[in-house]
Amino acid sequence: MHVTKAVVPAAGLGTRLYPVTRSQPKEMLPLGTRPAIQGAAEEIEGAGITDVLLITSAAKRAVEDHFDPRQSPGQSADDDSSPLTARYYCTRQAEPRGLGDAVLHARGFVGDNHFLVALGDCVLISDEPSGPVKRMVQAHAQFEADATICVQTVNAAGTSRYGIVEPGDGLADGVIALTDIVEKPGPEAAPSRLAVAARYIFSPRIFELLEEVQPGYGEEIQLTDAIRAMIAEGRRVLAIPLQPGEHRLDVGNFNSYGRAFMRSILTDREYGPDLREYAAELVQYLADDSQPDPDAPREES
Ligand code: G1P
Repeated sequence: MHVTKAVVPAAGLGTRLYPVTRSQPKEMLPLGTRPAIQGAAEEIEGAGITDVLLITSAAKRAVEDHFDPRQSPGQSADDDSSPLTARYYCTRQAEPRGLGDAVLHARGFVGDNHFLVALGDCVLISDEPSGPVKRMVQAHAQFEADATICVQTVNAAGTSRYGIVEPGDGLADGVIALTDIVEKPGPEAAPSRLAVAARYIFSPRIFELLEEVQPGYGEEIQLTDAIRAMIAEGRRVLAIPLQPGEHRLDVGNFNSYGRAFMRSILTDREYGPDLREYAAELVQYLADDSQPDPDAPREES
């Protein structure tokens, strides 16, 4: 089975990043030299995705424009080769009713196919390009799953920010069958420290379950609750953990965004070497202001 269609929800209000996101979508914030959502697009195209439905909302016109076919998304000023080749479509979520409701807007686009959901405010990075999504696609087909979810380990304080899974049997190296999932539990209620990491593959059964679930956490239609119902009816739901050296770059709040931007630009092939030197000098200066200020004018040697 090939997974060629993806749904990229990008309708969220981004209130944790106000005032930066008052008039611009958080998905358009740069991670290094490209907007976050372009990083997500490159990541999923690298795993074989050819058709993408972006779920946007009223304040997200910049996202829609970024993927305008005449503008060649991904193109830099001095480069006419766009890294993006998939077909991009947009639809708008009418009201902010939650991630589950956003995904439900993709029902007609997806049809009878299994499909990927990739949240547009995160990029998964790995030494093997698109590694996590490629492993998800492989395991989803091999074990004939109805859902396959990427997960990452978080600390106790982090459980209340994520969907948290309950792991059951290991089916293979790096493939876990799930027995439950809960949206944003506190550390006491959390069934593990394995958090949903912004990438999912589903069979179309998820749409029927999304139609049935009632508003949950935050009074929103939660994708997590439909996955929970899928597990409860005995279907196979898998988790694929991020491996050491793999990271989720997340434009969710200023702390995660700061880290994600720094990692992206400091590892950039062109700008990374200079900026790593600058960052090291700046950190020294901030710890001890008798050290040279890297922004002070210097005599050319
Ligand atoms: C959403 C999901 C949550 C998941 C998170 C990161 O939450 O509801 O289960 O862990 O994305 O993938 P949000 O960050 O939109 O509040």
